[in-house]
Amino acid sequence: MQFDSVDYEIKGTTALITLNEPDKLNALSSGIRSGLITALTTADDDPAVRVIIITGAGEKSFCAGADISGFEFNSTYIREFMSKVIDVLALPENVTKPVIAAVNGFAFGGGFEIAIACDFVIASEQAKFGVPEIQLGLLPGFAIVRLNELVGRQKAKYLSMLGEPMSAQEAEDLGLVLKVVPHDELLTQAFALAEKLASKPQMAIRYAKSIYNRDLGGADITYAKDAMPFLFTDDDAKEGVTAFREKRKPVFK
Ligand code: COA
Repeated sequence: MQFDSVDYEIKGTTALITLNEPDKLNALSSGIRSGLITALTTADDDPAVRVIIITGAGEKSFCAGADISGFEFNSTYIREFMSKVIDVLALPENVTKPVIAAVNGFAFGGGFEIAIACDFVIASEQAKFGVPEIQLGLLPGFAIVRLNELVGRQKAKYLSMLGEPMSAQEAEDLGLVLKVVPHDELLTQAFALAEKLASKPQMAIRYAKSIYNRDLGGADITYAKDAMPFLFTDDDAKEGVTAFREKRKPVFK
C-alpha cells in the first residue's frame, strides 16, 4: 500500500513504513510528511499491528531532514511550516505502539529527529547521524528540546552548534542508537526486535511507552514552534539556505 510518498506493508504483526523519495534522500517533502502521518496513524489504529518500523528507501539515506527546496522566507509560512513539521517529528513519540527506526543511511536534521522520537533505533553500520541546520543558519527545533535529556547538555550543544555528522558507532556510544548492525542485516534485526516486542503482553508494553514518554514535555515543543521561526528572519539563514540550493559553501556574516 502507498500513502503519498510513503510505502506501507504489514508483515505479521509489524507495520513497515518506508519513506520513499530516495532521489531527494527521503527529505521531508509534503508527500513524505503526509504519508508518514497517515501510515503511523493507520498502524496505530489497526488492532492487528503490534509494532511499527520506519526506514528509508534506497541505500543512501533514511531521511535528510526538512525539504530545503520548499523553504519560503515569509513569517506566516514559516510559523505554519515549523508547527506542522514538529508535529510530524513528534508523532513516533505520540503513537501508542512501539516504533523502531531502522536507520539505513543519512539521518540528518528532521531525519535525525524522527529517529530520536522512535522508541528504539537500530542503525546500519553505514548510517550517519547529525543535525546540520547550523550550516543553514538555523537550528533543529525538535532535537534542541530533546537532546539535553538524551545526551546531556554539553554534548547537545556540541551537536547543535557544530552540526557535524557522526558515525553509527558514535551515535551508539552517545546512547542515541540501541544497536549498530551490518547493513544487509538491518531489516532482519529490526524485525527480530519487533517480534520480541510483539510476543510480550501488549497492555504492559503500551503502558511502558506511555509512562516513559509522559515527561517529555509539551511546553518545550510549543516553545520550539514559537521561537524557531524567528531564526528564518536572520540574514544568515537566507544565506545558508540559498548556499545549499546553489550547491556552494555559505558565507555567514
Ligand atoms: N531538502 C531538499 N533536498 C535535499 C535535501 C533536503 N534536506 N537533502 C538532500 N536533498 C537533495 C539534493 O538537493 C540533491 O538534489 P538534486 O539531485 O536535485 O541536486 C539530492 O537530494 C541528493 O543530495 P546531494 O546533496 O547531492 O547528496 P550528497 O550525497 O552529496 O550529500 C547530504 C548528502 C545529506 C550530506 C546533503 O544532501 C545535505 O547536506 N543535505 C541537507 C541536510 C540538512 O541540512 N538537513 C536539515 C534541513 S533543515
